[in-house]
Amino acid sequence: MTESKTDVAALAPPVLILLGPPGAGKGTQARMLQQRYGLVQLSTGDLLRSAVAEGSEAGKAADKVMKSGGLVSDDIVIAILRDRLAEPDTTKGVILDGFPRTTVQAEALDDLLAESGQQIDAAISLEVDDEAMVHRIAGRYSCGECGEGYHDSFKQPKVEGVCDVCGATNMKRRADDNAETVAERLSAYHRQTAPLITYYEKRGALQRIDAMGPIDEIATTVSRAVSKAAKD
Ligand code: AP5
Repeated sequence: MTESKTDVAALAPPVLILLGPPGAGKGTQARMLQQRYGLVQLSTGDLLRSAVAEGSEAGKAADKVMKSGGLVSDDIVIAILRDRLAEPDTTKGVILDGFPRTTVQAEALDDLLAESGQQIDAAISLEVDDEAMVHRIAGRYSCGECGEGYHDSFKQPKVEGVCDVCGATNMKRRADDNAETVAERLSAYHRQTAPLITYYEKRGALQRIDAMGPIDEIATTVSRAVSKAAKD
């Protein structure tokens, strides 16, 4: 791999978006980019699940929608993301995982970044077919402590039930990873989020990646895309 941390350091601080349907591998690739480049993964799905666990007003409103597989209202998600972007660690650069998901969110993101003189460096679209996506979601689980992701077929921990990263043994599966909710999440993606591919393409910020191969191969291609964004 010829991509280097130096290339990415040229983006100061980088703002990368990972687009893709549920199960495309956004979270998996975002964590790998985080480890490789020291960027911060910002997953609106994770932020919303934390709000639900805390029982905040936003969390209560989000909970019902997430269980149905629909999209949480733009107002709630944008407010959560704005607060998270204001935290000091984000000055290292961020990978947005699962945001934006609507044109309203994309425009709000442009405005938020403009406040600090920033803009998007790349929107990377992970492209998978619907059948593979359902299979990926059905076998997914993660570490309850550090969030490292695993899969029944594609990525098992070295010791069954023990997280490779932190050694915890409390693996968990997501409540919205059931067949009915996944069908609605997929439909919401095609209806409301897929149009963002054209939105970023028109701005010359889009990079499409065939995300059907093995995780490590896709990671190499994603790193190449990040490096290209740094050089453009
Ligand atoms: P969110 O948490 O963002 O879920 P999602 O978009 O549905 O995406 P997933 O987390 O399911 O998949 P992923 O692409 O990250 O795949 P992963 O890497 O885990 O959102 C959940 C809900 O929150 C939404 O439905 C909505 O209600 C709400 N929400 C969140 N953001 C919102 C927003 N901005 N606006 C409104 N509402 C919002 O991979 C999946 C599995 O496959 C893993 O097990 C992994 O190990 C495996 N895998 C990954 N890559 C590969 C590969 N190449 N080959 C084989 N297996 C692979």
